[in-house]
Amino acid sequence: MQNRRVGMKCPRRCGGQHKSSEKISIRLFRPEDRQLFTDMFNSLSRESIYSRFFSRIRSVPDKLLKVDDDRNIAAIATDATLPEEKMSGIAHLMINSDGKEAEAAVLVRDFWQGKGLGTVLLKQLITIAEERGVEALWGIVQIENIHSIALGRKLGFSFFLISDASVHGFHNSALLNARLEILNKKKA
Ligand SMILES: CC(C)(COP(=O)(O)OP(=O)(O)OC[C@H]1O[C@@H](n2cnc3c(N)ncnc32)[C@H](O)[C@@H]1OP(=O)(O)O)[C@@H](O)C(=O)NCCC(=O)NCCS
Repeated sequence: MQNRRVGMKCPRRCGGQHKSSEKISIRLFRPEDRQLFTDMFNSLSRESIYSRFFSRIRSVPDKLLKVDDDRNIAAIATDATLPEEKMSGIAHLMINSDGKEAEAAVLVRDFWQGKGLGTVLLKQLITIAEERGVEALWGIVQIENIHSIALGRKLGFSFFLISDASVHGFHNSALLNARLEILNKKKA
């Protein structure tokens, strides 16, 4: 994947000071980007951390820093208007050992939420998955995470209630399994 500069549209929710001149660049995460990710993580609200990780963790999980461009891939968005790189969002794709299914997860810096960046990152993950022959994407979402559900629905994911959430070790919230059949999507 080449570095890509993306002109962001400024949706209706965009507040007065954030105009359509905002720009982001999308590229693959590299091992040397650990600090960028850590800086973004340290800026996140407790709500964003809980929505993404289902727990109040205090640092980036190691496995999310170990990308390999093979099965554990991440795409990042950086703010292209700044002289130094600053991460605005990151999307992870973790491909199963048989290569057929992959877990997808997106995290957007609070400042950037609601401006279309999650949509850009999730579309990028779907493209990467398609290129690698992945047949289905899945993710786990808390039922009250309405923006994540809206984002998934918009891009064609179906949602199924997980009846026994304790299987996944989470007890505080009902969980949904989000699923996108990529082969079906291509045929449609
Ligand atoms: C969930 C998350 C990834 C969505 O990313 P985002 O950049 O905020 O989402 P987008 O701006 O692309 O919006 C996607 C859709 O969500 C809905 N949405 C998002 N923010 C919204 C808001 N403030 N008000 C109303 N609807 C909103 C809309 O339907 C929107 O589609 P539309 O703009 O075409 O109407 C982001 O909010 C986030 O990182 N949250 C914390 C971590 C998390 O929950 N991750 C997902 C679980 S893995």
